[in-house]
Amino acid sequence: MSRRVLQTKRLKLRPLEPRDATDIARLINEWQVIRWLTSPPWPYAFSDAEWFVSGDASEGSRAIVLDGRLVGVVGLDRHQRTGLRELGYWLGRPFWGQGLMTEAANALVADFFKHAGQELWSGYFPANAASRNVLAKLGFQPSHRETAQSRPLGRPVELQKVIL
Ligand SMILES: CC(C)(COP(=O)(O)OP(=O)(O)OC[C@H]1O[C@@H](n2cnc3c(N)ncnc32)[C@H](O)[C@@H]1OP(=O)(O)O)[C@@H](O)C(=O)NCCC(=O)NCCS
Repeated sequence: MSRRVLQTKRLKLRPLEPRDATDIARLINEWQVIRWLTSPPWPYAFSDAEWFVSGDASEGSRAIVLDGRLVGVVGLDRHQRTGLRELGYWLGRPFWGQGLMTEAANALVADFFKHAGQELWSGYFPANAASRNVLAKLGFQPSHRETAQSRPLGRPVELQKVIL
């Protein structure tokens, strides 16, 4: 993935840096945020954030920066099994409900297709109305359901897969 910095009306999307570990560990380590994600461990230690920002795991991710502060992460990561790019994201709890993720994800998705991306996948837990709405606003269409292991929940969960 490219390391381009993207600017939207309110947000800057930039590659993650080692100094982001503190904000990531603080904002993601909340059940109402992490319960909807499949890959991060729970509870989420500072060392988990240090590992995430410094390695290959975050090569497709960008920090979402509002007024100079990291407020969440959005990324186009490769699906473990298929290798296809998948949109994933989370926002710290205090920043929900202001249209920020729609704005951030929209910019990243537009950049993906502008630079020869062909198809993009994502997926959400059917009970996650906020994420379903973000994806619908971006134009994703429902595809199929698949089972994935949720690390925070410690059990398999059903995901609604969507494609753009
Ligand atoms: C999903 C998440 C990123 C949404 O971020 P957000 O910036 O609050 O979303 P937006 O403000 O852009 O909202 C997008 C749409 O969803 C709606 N929405 C937001 N929160 C909602 C909720 N709790 N229930 C139902 N709809 C909701 C908004 O009204 C908006 O639709 P509208 O423009 O028609 O009003 C955020 O809630 C989050 O980080 N959740 C935990 C992690 C997560 O779920 N990640 C995605 C995993 S698939």
